[in-house]
Amino acid sequence: MQINVESGDITKSQAKAIIVNLFQGVTSPAGATGAVDKALEGGISALISEGDIKGKKGEAPLVHSLGKLPSPRLIVAGLGKQETFSVNVIRDVTGTSLRRARAAGAKTVATILHGAGIAGLDAEACAQAVAEGAVMGAYRFRKYKDSSNGADENNADIETLTIVESDESKIEAIKRGVARGQIMANAANHTRDLANEPANELPPSALAERARQLMGEVGIECEIMHEGQLKEMGMGALLGVGIGSTSPPRFIIMRYRGNPDSDKTLGLLGKGITFDSGGISIKPAAGMEAMKGDMSGGAAIIATMWAIGQLKPKLNVTGIVPTAENMPSGSATRPGDVVRAMNGKTIEVINTDAEGRLILADAICYARNEKLSPIIDVATLTGAMMIALGPGATGFFATHDDVASAITAAGEKSGEMMWRFPLIEDYAEHMKSNVADIKNTGQRNGGAINAAKFLHFFAEDTPFAHIDMAGTDEADKDKGLWVKGATGIPTRTLVNLVLGWAEKN
Ligand code: BES
Ligand code: MN
Ligand code: ZN
Repeated sequence: MQINVESGDITKSQAKAIIVNLFQGVTSPAGATGAVDKALEGGISALISEGDIKGKKGEAPLVHSLGKLPSPRLIVAGLGKQETFSVNVIRDVTGTSLRRARAAGAKTVATILHGAGIAGLDAEACAQAVAEGAVMGAYRFRKYKDSSNGADENNADIETLTIVESDESKIEAIKRGVARGQIMANAANHTRDLANEPANELPPSALAERARQLMGEVGIECEIMHEGQLKEMGMGALLGVGIGSTSPPRFIIMRYRGNPDSDKTLGLLGKGITFDSGGISIKPAAGMEAMKGDMSGGAAIIATMWAIGQLKPKLNVTGIVPTAENMPSGSATRPGDVVRAMNGKTIEVINTDAEGRLILADAICYARNEKLSPIIDVATLTGAMMIALGPGATGFFATHDDVASAITAAGEKSGEMMWRFPLIEDYAEHMKSNVADIKNTGQRNGGAINAAKFLHFFAEDTPFAHIDMAGTDEADKDKGLWVKGATGIPTRTLVNLVLGWAEKN
């Protein structure tokens, strides 16, 4: 979708649909919505007083202009109550409105800039939110849908979105916001594309190739280590997870050097399990298909690096994605097997379904060898986190308060809520093994914390944070910014985190 910015009057737009807005409780609209109302000879006010348009959040009623405007139809996007209005609402209403326009067959859409009028928000931030809402809200994964039969004719992709702003002095700021929003949203959509891709089409080797291709687009160095190198490096935990699959593991390293004068490098790690069957500790059949998305954390890291390559913050970041397929077979790791991680520590594998922490253990060891700090990993790690928080927030752990507050702030900026959990020292007790240095599961209670403590064991004294995104990686319905399927969380949060980190450090 092409996004244009124009100064002018939305009532003159020739787009196939125009988007205006309404706060809940407003009975006679002002501003651009007021101008459209006037052109329609009070048509919108009439619909408000009839109760057909309420301005409720998430509402996107479509009204025909019946020849009274150059555009054939308009959408009166509900902004909800003025007290609860924020850029998050702008993203959501833009997403919802664009899907509404698309369903009506409009290929060209024009919108006013929500939020910069009576709400008085910063125009650049509002424009970024409109771009993010549009690009993410209109996302579809149609790669394997046959649309050549014409069934989708009336539901074609929107080709252009034009932001029409009456205040000429805001245009430059709006253009900057749109440019950044497009990068952010396209990054999130890259994460979605990777996570939605079926596992037969995206084994570890293919995930690595996609990373190489995306890094090539933005000029970031991408190194891919194969099995032989992983053996040489002593990554027994990663190899043990992948050994049951006919598609061998890979280790993806992406190096961005935005501040060559500094010896500090931030480490971003992501779980890249291309399919998690559970292995010999096999999962139940119901819902197992969702485990094609068990590389969402890794995908978010790849997409974050892709965004950073374009936004060019002044700091160094290394992205690391250990990737493997967790399968049961005659060669698979068995419960009771002992594997040795890259730092020499041995792990007794009690449950082969606790595989994410195993591959991340080797990644953390590698990151420590490279002196990356802080080390931040992102993973669909535990069902326990999904049960704890549900789809509304992503849980995380951090050894240091400054890293924790940076993650919280980055989440607020992106509208992806990040909620801190405690790293409870005592829980490490439950992972004491009879035969090895540690075992890969603790007790059932506090499962998300146990997993975090397992990773902490490998991070040792390096400042460390762990983001457990199980529960937020997938949406079960279209809503605002989100579309059914992979969410792309926490890609934009990570990009904001890196941008913020570059400014502060
Ligand atoms: N990938 C799963 C976690 C998961 C579950 C993500 C549901 C998204 C939705 C992870 O590898 C896993 O299987 N974890 C186990 C750990 C247990 C065996 C200690 C879990 O949470 O059940
Ligand atoms: Mn698992
Ligand atoms: Zn998993």
